[in-house]
Amino acid sequence: MRIGILTSGGDSPGMNAAIRAAVRSAKDKNIQVIGFIQGLKGILDNKFIELDDRSVSGIIEKGGTILQSSREPRFLQYEYRKLAYERLNSMGIEWLIIIGGNGSLKAAHKFLTESSIKVVGITGTIDNDIYGTEYTLGYDTALNTATEAIDKIRDTAFSFGRIFIVEVMGRDYGLLPLDIALATGSELVLIPEYRISPNVIAQKVHMYKTKGKKHVIIVLSEGYCSAFELEKELSPLLKQYNPEYELRICVLGHIQRGGSPTAYDRIFGTLSGQKSIELITSNKNGYFIGLKDNKIQPIEIELAVRNKKTLEHKLISTLEEISI
Ligand code: F6P
Repeated sequence: MRIGILTSGGDSPGMNAAIRAAVRSAKDKNIQVIGFIQGLKGILDNKFIELDDRSVSGIIEKGGTILQSSREPRFLQYEYRKLAYERLNSMGIEWLIIIGGNGSLKAAHKFLTESSIKVVGITGTIDNDIYGTEYTLGYDTALNTATEAIDKIRDTAFSFGRIFIVEVMGRDYGLLPLDIALATGSELVLIPEYRISPNVIAQKVHMYKTKGKKHVIIVLSEGYCSAFELEKELSPLLKQYNPEYELRICVLGHIQRGGSPTAYDRIFGTLSGQKSIELITSNKNGYFIGLKDNKIQPIEIELAVRNKKTLEHKLISTLEEISI
């Protein structure tokens, strides 16, 4: 049997562990694996390599993805998708493993509904925003990377008694910013699911300062607004409370996506890769590997593309209660 594998959309730490495990598990079952370069683009542009057990050596600890990634706009058009289906058919590829986030699962769903190619999804996104799974590959590393960065920011914030806005990634789902705020003991978190006016933010910052806090860290989700926009609005409001208040910003951005995966992501990637081959050998088409009830298991791709994950608001009140 011949199968294809690709990584698509925003990369996430642990993708290499998943590729490695899938390739080696496939080898064990005499399945040939073709790796497409730069995601769906690789299918359309005929860019691929054959992967064997040795070509995935020494990658478990590497961030990014050895197969590279892309957001391929051509795939949104049926004529190009048809071309991709035909290409895979002509290459004798029966199954495709797609590693990525929500956009990649949407693409997997197209394969499922429009072609004869069978698909397995593996989660790969730092956002942890895929419906149906409690975890997505890369989240733990991104959370730890941001935590480490904010610990450093806090050192200098303390020295100057400053207020910091730290903008973090996570698209429009607030879990990653919220967990970052909890892990760093930040005073405030601003996420799309929990909006407060700049006046209230300024009031809260002033309240923390008057209670004796030397510095205040505000974790801002990129999906809320940009740090630059917030700074513009917040700075004059803070000055009204105290002209000596100093506000600084830091945008973590793509730093969160890189770096060596944590042990958890290496293991999650490995188990996901291995499970993807198990689904293929048992002919279970249309599932992605997720975490449910703390167990790695197949979840219907259809479920993920039809629903939006929502956030548990209890965590916000925890943060507010603890940051006093
Ligand atoms: O989906 C992962 C993610 O890192 C989001 O957190 C972020 O909004 C987006 O990708 C950034 O995408 P790009 O790397 O294409 O700018």
